[in-house]
Amino acid sequence: MSALAAATGAVNLGQGFPDVDGPEKIIEEAVSALRSGRNQYAPGPGIPALREAVAAHQERHYGLTFDPAREVAVTTGATEGIAAAILALVDPGDEVILVEPYYDSYPAMVQFAGGVRRPVTLSLDPAAPGGRLPRAALEAQVSSRSKVLLLNSPHNPTGTVLTREELETVAAFARDHDLTVVSDEVYERLTFDGTPHIPIATLPGMRERTLTLSSIGKSYSFTGWKVGWATGSEHLVQALIGAKQWLTFTSGAPLQPAAAYALEHLDHWPKELALDLQERRDLLCAGLKGIGLDVTIPEGTYFAVSDIADLGWSDGLEFCRALPERAGVVAIPLQGFYDGDAGKHLVRWTFTKQRDVIEEALERLGKGQLAR
Ligand SMILES: Cc1ncc(COP(=O)(O)O)c(C=O)c1O
Repeated sequence: MSALAAATGAVNLGQGFPDVDGPEKIIEEAVSALRSGRNQYAPGPGIPALREAVAAHQERHYGLTFDPAREVAVTTGATEGIAAAILALVDPGDEVILVEPYYDSYPAMVQFAGGVRRPVTLSLDPAAPGGRLPRAALEAQVSSRSKVLLLNSPHNPTGTVLTREELETVAAFARDHDLTVVSDEVYERLTFDGTPHIPIATLPGMRERTLTLSSIGKSYSFTGWKVGWATGSEHLVQALIGAKQWLTFTSGAPLQPAAAYALEHLDHWPKELALDLQERRDLLCAGLKGIGLDVTIPEGTYFAVSDIADLGWSDGLEFCRALPERAGVVAIPLQGFYDGDAGKHLVRWTFTKQRDVIEEALERLGKGQLAR
């Protein structure tokens, strides 16, 4: 869809990357690391300064304590964290419970590991009985081969931030079936309207069975840096490092001191980013509603979702392919994030773009022929 945007001159509300970089001071730290000889292999688990900064971050924000030497690992973005976690924990034939719509690297990695994915559909209704991930839906996908549950909150693509009650349902399910939870929390700092992000590792009995993944990309608007980290009990983090050994062995050396600097010295920055993003969310969502498009109000992340059935479309891919020509805007169809057809009529818009870009997209959408 980004290639389509480039080819047609459409405004790209598809791929989720910010159009403004993160703080200059963090860039300077990276430049200074590049200029001061930090250019050879970093230690496999990451430089101590970043592991310490990650441990301090988890303690400061969530009261979770991790030993930086044995319970924190640096990864090449959360993407490598996901890959290494799945390769470490899943053997051929093991089942992995995924919440759909899912980030697209999850099913790919389950397949690489020879695992079998068992999707549970996330409800988009915040008032859904039993929560948006009800116990019955989880139970329907579990078996004696189930090994891992892959969770993502704040959630791409829907912007859902799971509540404590919803997380308690998932945690009880994981404990009862002895599952390891891999929790992708890359949007941990980007929640709106005071919605708290609660790491599932903070729930009773979950610290020892959860591998939590995050990265610098979303919190500090450096998605191209691909510096991530994993935290968890020693046995889980060491297993992840064992797999990482044969993926990248070690992650980008000069960016690690800069990431450590960000976590340590610019802890307030993601909060300011979230407030600014919240305003852009409001601009996008009010604008879409104003032109008659149904839209969810996301509690976090970069994304909002529209149901295009009311416009007479049943296929989001068809809608998104037609949109550049009809309105000069690009969105992402959700069907690739599902195993089945549950998301066929849904499309995703990003609001992690500057206000004038969102305004331009809304103006174009307002003038375009959107109804089928
Ligand atoms: C849910 C989710 N997980 C992981 C990633 C990738 O993170 P990183 O860039 O740190 O590899 C993304 C990026 O879009 C994401 O949305």
